[in-house]
Amino acid sequence: MLKQPAKMIYDLRQHKSLRKAYLKQQIRNSQFPTRELSELFSEPQQKIESLRREYSELQLSTELKDKVTKKRRETKWNGGGQIGEEIELLYIVTRLLEPDRIIETGVSAGYSTAFILTALKKNGHGQLRSIDLPVYQSDTDPYDEFGSYLPDGEKSGWAIPDGLRDQWELYEGKSSEHLNSILKDWRSIDVFFHDSGHTYHTMRWEYDTAWPHIRPGGVLASDDIYLPRLRDLGDPFGDFAKRENISPITYSEMGILPVSDSGRLRTQKRRAMRRLRDY
Ligand SMILES: C[S@@+](CC[C@H](N)C(=O)[O-])C[C@H]1O[C@@H](n2cnc3c(N)ncnc32)[C@H](O)[C@@H]1O
Repeated sequence: MLKQPAKMIYDLRQHKSLRKAYLKQQIRNSQFPTRELSELFSEPQQKIESLRREYSELQLSTELKDKVTKKRRETKWNGGGQIGEEIELLYIVTRLLEPDRIIETGVSAGYSTAFILTALKKNGHGQLRSIDLPVYQSDTDPYDEFGSYLPDGEKSGWAIPDGLRDQWELYEGKSSEHLNSILKDWRSIDVFFHDSGHTYHTMRWEYDTAWPHIRPGGVLASDDIYLPRLRDLGDPFGDFAKRENISPITYSEMGILPVSDSGRLRTQKRRAMRRLRDY
């Protein structure tokens, strides 16, 4: 007979592989947040549904997959990972928000970059600046679970179709080298999207650094929000959302945090308090 079933379930969840399976199931079961997006952007749900149809009809996934398959066939490269289903949320948010300025960290082959650029092209305006530390297969563990490394001789974003590059600038190196100077140049941005190094430190540093520059009405988006928990590295996205007192909109592994006027005031107040404390 089970003496303490609740404790047993708790103990089982502490077991890494079971916790991983539990979280993965949660991710798989996630529903596309049509209602939440409709409320956030004050658009009818039909508009979100029509953008979902637009996304499903894009030829881009096929084009990217063909390029990656060809490269794998022709070289010894076995990277490239997969196009995550969460990219749909990023695409639709970019279409709804019609941003002028987006910063992205983490490019690799360029899947998310290509979808953001497609959305900007359809919007008819907007610039994307992406930061990526180029990593090659020879630099990494060949069993890297995502295969986010570049084929020899290729640059970050190598798979992005040429016709999408007009609204794009690439900054090679770590986010810690480039993010502050891009923010200083642009001052205010509409969207910050994280998909670079998924350690607690990098994720929190990027969120904390970009957040004060996102205009009210803009969003912070992050991929792989559950990954640090799966790796016992804590919950940087959850902790950040809690600190800002915002319920995120999530789909698969993507999280979106909208910036409101009141949220912006809270951030300013916290910074003023910190300045007073340090004075
Ligand atoms: C998960 S991949 C990006 C995937 C891409 N967003 C996509 O949808 O295909 C992560 C990328 O971030 C890069 N990276 C890792 N740490 C970084 C850092 N601190 N700053 C900038 N890029 C980083 C890696 O080299 C890799 O190219």
